Amino acid sequence: MDQIIVQGGAELRGEIPIAGAKNACLTLMPATLLTDEPLTLTNAPRLSDIRTMTALLGSLGAEVAALQDGRVLALSSHDLTSHRADYDIVRRMRASILVLGPLLARDGVAEVSLPGGCAIGARPVDLHLMALERMGAELDLRDGYVHARAPSGGLRGAVVEFPLVSVGATENALMAATLARGTTELRNAAREPEIVDLARCLRRMGARIEGEGGGTITIEGVDRLRGATHPVVTDRIELGTYMLAPAICGGEVTCLGGRIELLEAFCERLDAAGIHVEESPRGLTVARRNGRVSAIDVTTAPFPGFPTDLQAQIMALLCTAEGVSHLEETIFENRFMHAPELARMGARIEVHGGRATVTGVERLRGAPVMATDLRASVSLILAGLAAEGETIVRRVYHLDRGYEHVEEKLAAVGARIERTREGEAAHG
Ligand code: UD1
Repeated sequence: MDQIIVQGGAELRGEIPIAGAKNACLTLMPATLLTDEPLTLTNAPRLSDIRTMTALLGSLGAEVAALQDGRVLALSSHDLTSHRADYDIVRRMRASILVLGPLLARDGVAEVSLPGGCAIGARPVDLHLMALERMGAELDLRDGYVHARAPSGGLRGAVVEFPLVSVGATENALMAATLARGTTELRNAAREPEIVDLARCLRRMGARIEGEGGGTITIEGVDRLRGATHPVVTDRIELGTYMLAPAICGGEVTCLGGRIELLEAFCERLDAAGIHVEESPRGLTVARRNGRVSAIDVTTAPFPGFPTDLQAQIMALLCTAEGVSHLEETIFENRFMHAPELARMGARIEVHGGRATVTGVERLRGAPVMATDLRASVSLILAGLAAEGETIVRRVYHLDRGYEHVEEKLAAVGARIERTREGEAAHG
C-alpha cells in the first residue's frame, strides 16, 4: 500500500494548476444516460472516483473513453444493456446513486443498490427517493436495492420541496426532470457551483432550466436531449486545499484557474486569519501576511457558506494559529476523525459532538498518522508540511479518490514530499 512521507518546514513558492471538479464530473458523467448521442467532457480530473463512475456506467452498457491522458471523457449511452447499479460498485462510491434519476427518466426503470453508511456519517438517500416519488416514480426497497419504475407515460413534472439542502438529491431530481412531462420546481435546491455546472451542461444538451444557483430551480421537460461538449468547472475544494499550503508553510503560491466566487466564504475566513488572497486573470495568489495566523471561528454550511469539504484542511491551519478557534460542523455528523490524528502531531483539539475547539500551538511535530477519509487525509499532509520533522501518512488510497498527484503538485512548489510503498524508506 502507498504512503506519503513529508518533511516539514519548507516555504512554498510557485504555481499549482487546479483540476476540474471531481464532484461536478461525477454528476456530469451520468448525464450521458439521458441521451443516445455522444457527450464529451473536457477538463476532467484524473482520479480513482472517476474510474469508479466509468466502471459503473460501463456495467450499464454505456461507453466511456478516456482521451488525452484522461483529460477528456467521451461518453455514449447509445445502447444500454442493464439498468442495475450493483452493490459492489455503489459501496465503493456513494455518488453512484446519481445514475438513478437519469435511468428512470430515460427508460422508466432502474435498480440501484443503497449506498449504506460511510466514514463521515449515515448519509441516507431518502431525499433522492422523495423527489423521484413526487415525479410519479414507484419505489420498492428490497434486498438492499431501490427498485424504481416510472408510471406509464414516464415521469411527470412536480413541485419538490426539499426539507434540507442536499447536493446529490438536487442533482438526481434535476437530471430526472429534464425528460419528465411538464414543469418541475425544485425548492430549497442546493446552490453549489457543481449544480450550476450540471445545469449548464444539461442546457447545452437541450434541457430547459432556469434558476440554478438560486434556491428554486425550474425545469420544463423536453422529449429528448442531444449530445454536447462541456468543460468541467474548476475544483473549488482542490483549490481551497492548495490555497492553505502557503497559508500554513509561508511563501507565496498561485493556484491557476482559481476564482474567489467559487470560495467566497472560505476566502473571507482566510482574510480574518491573516492570509492575503489576490485574484488575477491567472488565478488566486495566496501568502501569509506575517507571523502566526490568528485563531478564527468556522461554521460549515451549504453553498455559499463555508464548505464542509474544507473543514478538515482549515483545522490543520488553525492548529498553529495564535489563540483558540472554534469549528462547527453542521452538514455531517462524525466528520472530525482527523482530530485525533492531528493530536498525534501535537495539536490541542477537543471535540464535543459537532463542535471542535482548537488551541493553537507554536509548532506541530511530525508523526506517523492514518488517513480516515478523503479530506481528512489531505489535512494530515497539510499539517505535515508545517510540522517539525517527518510525517508519514498511511492509507493514502483515500487521497487518490479526490486529488490527482498531490505529491507532484506540492513538490513542484518546493514541498519535501514523496510517495513510497509502505515499508520502503524515502529517498533524499
Ligand atoms: C456532496 C459532495 C460531498 C460534500 C457534500 C456536502 C459529491 C459527490 N459529494 O455529497 O463531497 O461533502 O455534497 O457539500 O458531490 N441527506 C439526507 N438525505 C438524503 C441526502 C442527504 O438526510 O437523501 C443529508 C446528508 O446526510 C447530509 C446532508 O443531507 O447530512 C447534505 O448531504 P448532501 O448535500 O446530499 O451530500 P452529497 O450529495 O452526498
